[in-house]
Amino acid sequence: MTVRVYVPRDAAALALGADAVASLLSQAGDVELVRTGSRGLVWLEPMVEVATSAGRIAYGPVTVADISSLLAAGLLVGGAHPLRLGRPEVLPYLAKQTRLTFARCGIVDPLSLDDYRAHGGLKGIARAIEIGSAATIEQVTQSGLRGRGGAGFPTGIKWKTAAEAKGERKFIVCNADEGDSGTFADRMLMEGDPFVLIEGMTIAGIAVGATKGYVYTRSEYPHAIATFNAALDVARREGLLGANVLGSSHAFDIEQRVGAGAYVCGEETSLLDSLEGKRGQVRTKPPLPAHKGLFGMPTVINNVVSLASVPIIMDKGAEFYREIGLGRSRGTMPIQLAGNIKYGGLFECGFGVTLGELVNDIGGGTLSGRSVRAVQVGGPLGAYFPPALFDTPFDYEAFAARDGLIGHGGIVVFDDTVDLAKQARFAMEFCAEESCGKCTPCRIGSVRGIEVIDRIAAGEAVDANLDLLRDLCHTMKFGSLCALGGFIPYPVMSALDHFPEDFRPVRREAAE
Ligand SMILES: Cc1cc2nc3c(=O)[nH]c(=O)nc-3n(C[C@H](O)[C@H](O)[C@H](O)COP(=O)(O)O)c2cc1C
Ligand code: SF4
Repeated sequence: MTVRVYVPRDAAALALGADAVASLLSQAGDVELVRTGSRGLVWLEPMVEVATSAGRIAYGPVTVADISSLLAAGLLVGGAHPLRLGRPEVLPYLAKQTRLTFARCGIVDPLSLDDYRAHGGLKGIARAIEIGSAATIEQVTQSGLRGRGGAGFPTGIKWKTAAEAKGERKFIVCNADEGDSGTFADRMLMEGDPFVLIEGMTIAGIAVGATKGYVYTRSEYPHAIATFNAALDVARREGLLGANVLGSSHAFDIEQRVGAGAYVCGEETSLLDSLEGKRGQVRTKPPLPAHKGLFGMPTVINNVVSLASVPIIMDKGAEFYREIGLGRSRGTMPIQLAGNIKYGGLFECGFGVTLGELVNDIGGGTLSGRSVRAVQVGGPLGAYFPPALFDTPFDYEAFAARDGLIGHGGIVVFDDTVDLAKQARFAMEFCAEESCGKCTPCRIGSVRGIEVIDRIAAGEAVDANLDLLRDLCHTMKFGSLCALGGFIPYPVMSALDHFPEDFRPVRREAAE
């Protein structure tokens, strides 16, 4: 009897040798190999699963050297072995999650529309076609969904603005630039369940009256780019995209474009310039992209996770989604645990879980085994939080109240060997490197910031230079045109506020 064996071909699993493992397993007898995405338990990759009469049984992390002993132990029938993990869905890391947007990731064949349908796919779009544009926008608004790209803007309001805007044609643009440090949710989704993004974008098209969508993907994601392009071909062939979406009167098609590696091209207006073939530079607002976006036409621009969360909202209803969460942060967030952490990976759950639970209980603390000293939440523009703030719940407002942000949901963990003055310098360096150059506080301020931090590190007029650094951060925060220059003060100021001893190197060395 043919045995179905699942091996991820997610980029993280590939980096850990999944192709060689898959190749050996394909020669292990009567095996049907299915290449999936990842379930997001990165420390267990490559995680191999076998379909048995008792459900799927997982083994991991599997290396080429383990294959012969695994086969001898009866891997193909779910046999006992030190690497046997049992049923994946009962592993605590997965059992504790509320998987909505990532419900199929790591489970289905990413390029099989039949598999997608068999696991609940396409129900959301069927409902959108049935209820029409206004009711679809109302559902998205009522769900409380806010943009998962970083700014947390209500998705329904953005869609309504674009739907009401006048234009010869309209566009849906998906932001898959995923530039934040420690984030990989967009990539995992595009590699593991690309149809959910296609479905979400098509629903957005139907809702606002757009017939064309673009996905702007970062060039560092070759596997996501390839999988997503292959999924677009399948979707066109099977009538999910085209002149009559799923036999309806709606037309919609999607093209993928690849960026060239600038962080600022993740900012929505730079992204639009880049898509138009120009150098990616931030545009002044107004006009909003929803009024005048790509090629001057009304444009909805949303993050991958925002768009991919729409099908489940349309399928289960706004009420179902908005019941999950905390305060004004409704639904689930795929949180990405990275850096010096024992159990790194993707953890999707309702808003409200605390930072301490995420880092210590779920993430298991540091990989180095040393104590956690700081975590940076929300990418390179996010604040460094000390363990004293680990009671902060994952919620847009709670983080803002503590001068932080949740951004795209990335958490990067550092142990007690980290030097926060160096991290503050790195923030300024990053800003100088990635600045689009359009405004002075960011272009010049970041370079001055590096110089001031260097003077502090050298012990030169430390108090005066610390005051100057705070003053500079204030100017950058309130004088920058976009959030690159405007938010770089978050990592710098949080380092100053929570780790002031790192900025007193001379005194610290004297004390040691
Ligand atoms: C410097 C900078 C970089 C950004 N990078 C990204 C990115 O990589 N991905 C993303 O989705 N949003 C990014 N954003 C946020 C976008 O400008 C925009 O808010 C988002 O694409 C809107 O989609 P959403 O409402 O679904 O979050 C960035 C913003 C700034 C200021
Ligand atoms: S803040 Fe920086 S990246 Fe943003 S517009 Fe100004 S120069 Fe460009």
